[in-house]
Parts: sequence; C-alpha cells; structure tokens
Amino acid sequence: MSASLATLLREKHILVTCGAGGVGKTTTAAAISVAAAKAGRRVLCLTIDPAKRLAESLGLKEMRHEAMVVDPSRFAERGIPITGSLTAMMLDTKRTFDELVEKYSSSPEKAQALLNNKLYRYMSTSLAGTQEYMAMEKLVAVKNDPAYDLIVLDTPPTANALDFLDAPERMVGALDSPAMKWLADAFGSSGRFSMNILAKGAATVLKGIGKITGGGFLEDMSQFVAQLQDLFGGFRERAVRVQNELRSPGVAFLLVTSPSPASIEEALFFSEKLREHRMPRGAFIVNRFRAASAQSPTEADAHAAANSLREKRLPLDGAPETRLLQAFAQSAKLAEADARSVARLAAEGVGTIVRVPEFATDVHDLVLLDALAQWLEVGGI
Ligand SMILES: Nc1ncnc2c1ncn2[C@@H]1O[C@H](COP(=O)(O)OP(=O)(O)OP(=O)(O)O)[C@@H](O)[C@H]1O
Ligand SMILES: [Mg+2]
Repeated sequence: MSASLATLLREKHILVTCGAGGVGKTTTAAAISVAAAKAGRRVLCLTIDPAKRLAESLGLKEMRHEAMVVDPSRFAERGIPITGSLTAMMLDTKRTFDELVEKYSSSPEKAQALLNNKLYRYMSTSLAGTQEYMAMEKLVAVKNDPAYDLIVLDTPPTANALDFLDAPERMVGALDSPAMKWLADAFGSSGRFSMNILAKGAATVLKGIGKITGGGFLEDMSQFVAQLQDLFGGFRERAVRVQNELRSPGVAFLLVTSPSPASIEEALFFSEKLREHRMPRGAFIVNRFRAASAQSPTEADAHAAANSLREKRLPLDGAPETRLLQAFAQSAKLAEADARSVARLAAEGVGTIVRVPEFATDVHDLVLLDALAQWLEVGGI
C-alpha cells in the first residue's frame, strides 16, 4: 500500500519535489515544508530560485544563501500553528561548486587558482547538469545535520524532469569527455601547453583562439584542465555516492505535475525512470487541478451573478447572463479534462495521487502557502 502524503511528511527524512518546468515544484516544496513544520518537524527547505515574493515571505532576502530560520512570529502573527521549525535556504550552484573545489583540491593554493580561473567561473554555472548535480551535492552535505528531521529539496527548472536524475552522469561525462582528455594530453602533467603533441591542425586552431581571446587564454585553459584532472577522482566517486544516497528508504520523490495530458505523460515517464534508477517514488501531486463545481450553475445562478456585477456598477455590455453561462460551461469542460487526466494517472496504478486546486492568485505569501499546505496535508481535493 502506498503511503499518504501526510505520512510521508511525518516519517521521511528527505522529500524531493521534481517535475517539468513551471509546474509548481518550488511552491510545493515550500508548502510541504510548512505542513511538516506544523506537524512538529524541524524542516530544512532547500529551495531554488523561488519567486521574489515567496522568498521574501520566507524571510529570504535577495542574495542570502545561508540557512535562515523563518521567524516563528511570522507564522504566529498569521495564526499558523507551527510546533516544529522551518529553516529555508536558497541553493547557489556556483557556491556549492566552489565548496567542492576547496574540499577536493590537493592544496589550498591549487583550489584558489582554480576558483580564480575564468574558464572555471564559466563552467561552474554553465556546464550541462551542474545545477542539478549541485542540488544533490548540497543535499548530501546537509543530510546528516542533526538540526533537521526533514529536508525538502526543490529541483532546478529543467525543461525535462529527467535531467535531474541524469545530471551526475552528464556532468561527470562532460568533464571526462574525449575533448577534455585531448586537452589534458596537450597540456601534459606539467600543466604547460605543448603544441608538439597535438595534430598540426589542432595546434593552429588553438593558436588562433589564443590570438582572438588575447593573452592569458591558453594559460587559463592549461591551468583549468590540469586542476580539473586533480579533482576528477573525487568528483566521480562523489557522483556515485550522491545517487546512492537518493536510493535510501528515508527518501521519497514527489512528482509534481500540472493536469495537462502532456505533463501527466512526462510525470509517468519520470516515475518509470525513478523505478529504473531504484529511487523511491512517494506520491504524485497534480497541481492547479480545476475541480468541477458540486452543482452545475443554473440560469438563476447566472442571473444572481450578473446582478451582483451590476450592483458593483461594472461596465457590462451585451447580456452578462449568457456570457456567464458560457464561462460556466467552459470551466466545466476544463474540469472534465483535468478529471480525465487524473483518471489516466490512476489507471496506471501509481499509488498516492494528491490533487491540489488552482488558486485565484499566485502562491506568494505564508497565508497562501499554509492554505496549500492544508490541501497537501489532507490529501488534496
Ligand atoms: N496551486 C496553485 N495555484 C495558483 N498558482 C500556483 C499554484 N501552484 C503554483 N502556482 C504559481 O505558479 C508559478 C510557478 O510555480 P513554481 O515557481 O513553484 O514552479 P516551478 O515548478 O518551481 O517552476 P520552475 O521549473 O521554473 O522552477 C508561481 O508563480 C506560483 O505561485
Ligand atoms: Mg522552481
């Protein structure tokens, strides 16, 4: 039997929200954190690039990447009963990468040289998979911190949810690619560039690049490659370890999806990939679900609604009753479509499915986050 979300957020040690771009991963991670803190747990929410107002409401001012305890009075003032605690932290890819370099370089001088290297500065933010990999790294770094009972990990805004799972392999793969080996060979163990061992064509290309980019490029490249070689062993080992950590029974992945058929298919595909990676799936969260009204609105309802608009002296052209009835019919259609999507998911026997309603506004403050937390806690609509 699959566990309810209320059970997961009380019992698991790590919950990871993942899914396609824009489906509500960050919002769900924050709401899950609030729900767990209300259930008495000491929660660390590792969030990525939250919308500015949401970050502010969690007390995360811009550019703060340290863990920040959300002041309990923020909750108390809004009548939200928190018996545990909520600490929020914004993930910073470059900084996590820098910390790794410091840890795995063979000397502090080598670490510093790499951190100052222009190519490193570019790679540490732009290499494919870096952001995802660093999110996992941060998780491993904080996971044994006795200050937290639960860590909720948000994942980066990838176009494809699968990018997250494949990130460690892709990143190590890129660092370990034939192109990098080729460069490493050219620089040799001395870290000095030797054109002699390169094919003539390649040497000409590199000299050309040196001319275009001006002084320092080849030196930067030389140092960069040599230093990365220094780190390789540590990285590869670590990537494997990070992935293994995500297989432990204290972890559950929460697959966030919109009710659109394409998003549901992607979530199902991702769920299958989790199974292949032997990573534990916790629940599907169908966010922004549009539920059918309990009763379909009648002409009398349309009339009453139109009258209330008239009372507000809103400029109305044509017959508002007709337009309102059309709008009612339209939302009933959307609700039917969403119900079909969820039925499709349920037919796959995927376990716990939580349907979260679409709110009238963005979820940008603690009160709305708490409202979302309550839906999650009770298992959705
Ligand atoms: N149930 C909801 N009702 C209304 N608005 C919502 C709901 N869930 C999320 N939103 C809004 O949708 C927007 C996108 O949400 P969010 O940032 O959580 O998505 P994401 O999956 O983290 O996106 P990205 O892939 O870019 O990281 C936000 O403005 C958020 O407030
Ligand atoms: Mg996000």
